[in-house]
Amino acid sequence: MPDPIKVDRTQVGIIGAGPAGLILSQLLHLEGIDSVVLEVHTRKYIEERVRAGVLEQGTVELLTEMGVGDRLKREGLVHHGVEFRFRGRGHHIDFQDLVGRSITIYAQQEVVKDLVAARLASDGRIVFEAQDASVHDITSGAPRIRYRKDGEECELVCDFIAGCDGFHGVCRTSIESSLTIYDRTYPFAWLGILAQAPPSSNELIYANHELGFALLSMRSPEISRLYIQCDPNEDIANWPDARIWEQLHLRSATLDSGWKLTEGPVIQKNIAEMRSFVADPMQYGRLFLAGDAAHIVPPTGAKGLNLAATDARVLARGLVEYYSTQKTELLDRYSEICLRRCWKVQHFSWWMTSMLHRIPGESAFDQQRQLAELDYVTGSRAASTALAEHYTGLPFTM
Ligand code: APR
Ligand code: PHB
Repeated sequence: MPDPIKVDRTQVGIIGAGPAGLILSQLLHLEGIDSVVLEVHTRKYIEERVRAGVLEQGTVELLTEMGVGDRLKREGLVHHGVEFRFRGRGHHIDFQDLVGRSITIYAQQEVVKDLVAARLASDGRIVFEAQDASVHDITSGAPRIRYRKDGEECELVCDFIAGCDGFHGVCRTSIESSLTIYDRTYPFAWLGILAQAPPSSNELIYANHELGFALLSMRSPEISRLYIQCDPNEDIANWPDARIWEQLHLRSATLDSGWKLTEGPVIQKNIAEMRSFVADPMQYGRLFLAGDAAHIVPPTGAKGLNLAATDARVLARGLVEYYSTQKTELLDRYSEICLRRCWKVQHFSWWMTSMLHRIPGESAFDQQRQLAELDYVTGSRAASTALAEHYTGLPFTM
């Protein structure tokens, strides 16, 4: 390893400028704790990348308390329920009535934009295009991050390192031998499009159909975000726009009169694999994993971003306790606190996924059982309340 040309110091070195890393950095800043965020991509890339879009009420409240809620309040679309569609009928789940809570549709890249702007406005340090980050001496009192910037070898000496570098980052893989990994891949994927088309409904529609799952979501009053279940090995080239629209029409068709799927030009298209993954524990020495670096959920429950936000919130509390009292009680419990929530969310995301998708090899019995489950969930106040409680976000506990 060549000697670093540039050595810098901070209290918390954060790898990754996604929601987990940026929320953590901003929360620490508000408590007078210094951090540096290292991001491998450019600012433009992270601010434009199309990702998730559903914020739990608790995430909205957190962003608002952190001072990054203004545009979210103006532009976010508050939803008081969702629709489940099966056997050609729509069934409304009324979150407001059931649990008195709501969700907000606001794209992840907009959250990222707001957080980057807030960090930079208060002289926060974000190093974009930080190449080849690696973590060192993580069991010592002064862990280090090595990286390259503009061809220069750099070193960041820290008290703690937060691995917020997503599922494909370097932090988890650096400590993989000390982790237990729980992993499940699903035999289907989601083909997603962004379309310049006003949403067909005021609420998200989750459709269980014999041709496969479909989800009608949105990003704004002008832009729809639509998904269909497809084979994980599918080549996107086999999916011209007309074929996607045809499947969306078939899978979302309803016997209820007066509803129509709106179409418009497709402006983005991708296929995403579906996976449940948990790394346990979420800490080794002074390296703490947060967000997708530690766990991922299939998108059916819309939980990835929200789980990343709660990890950052717990980690910030632990670090605040450490810097104000020198105690590590909360930091020692970081993994336990986060995993307890994570597993409940894992269960919810797996359950939603299992209830809504066609599963290769399933029997006619399995299909009837799935429909009966949907019938029960949408028909029973007790069951819909449980769904509403999960979907709008479990209470934040430490
Ligand atoms: N060095 C520096 N940065 C890195 C590295 C690396 N080696 N590897 C990855 N990154 C960056 C990525 O470019 C990305 O900007 O880390 C960031 C991780 O952000 P996310 O993947 O958004 O993960 P997280 O902050 O945990 O947020 C989870 O993201 O995948 C979605 O749906 C998921 O909504 C969830 C959210
Ligand atoms: C989205 O809008 O991208 C979205 C909405 C709900 C989900 C998953 C993704 O469950």
